Amino acid sequence: MIEWDDKYSVGISRIDDEHKQFIDIINKAVATNEQSDDPEELKEVLHQITMYAINHFSTEENYMIEFNYPEYQYHKEEHHDFSKKVIEYCERVNAGDSQFANEILEYLKRWLINHIQVTDRKYIDCFIRNGLK
Ligand SMILES: [Fe+2]
Repeated sequence: MIEWDDKYSVGISRIDDEHKQFIDIINKAVATNEQSDDPEELKEVLHQITMYAINHFSTEENYMIEFNYPEYQYHKEEHHDFSKKVIEYCERVNAGDSQFANEILEYLKRWLINHIQVTDRKYIDCFIRNGLK
């Protein structure tokens, strides 16, 4: 489980709120995996993570475009890599391979925490300068 901590805050309320929800969904996936052997349930939470990620990434990317953020391309690629990986996992689970649920969840947790603390921090100055709070 990931617990929200102030060290994850980027100081912009809309983005912090979305990151908190992102963490909640991943925690829900971890709980589902611990409590159930039903691959349908894993599929369902992975689907929710994918949908949430797409939505959240577009929030950030739209601001980057609007504010002419210089590292937009690089940041977008990191988002893209994540989406690709989750879709790949979904396909494996759909094909009946759910043995590696722990690996998926470890990847998701690690990626999100690292992304929030490293890559997302880089846009803070730019976003705040452009009026976000
Ligand atoms: Fe991001």
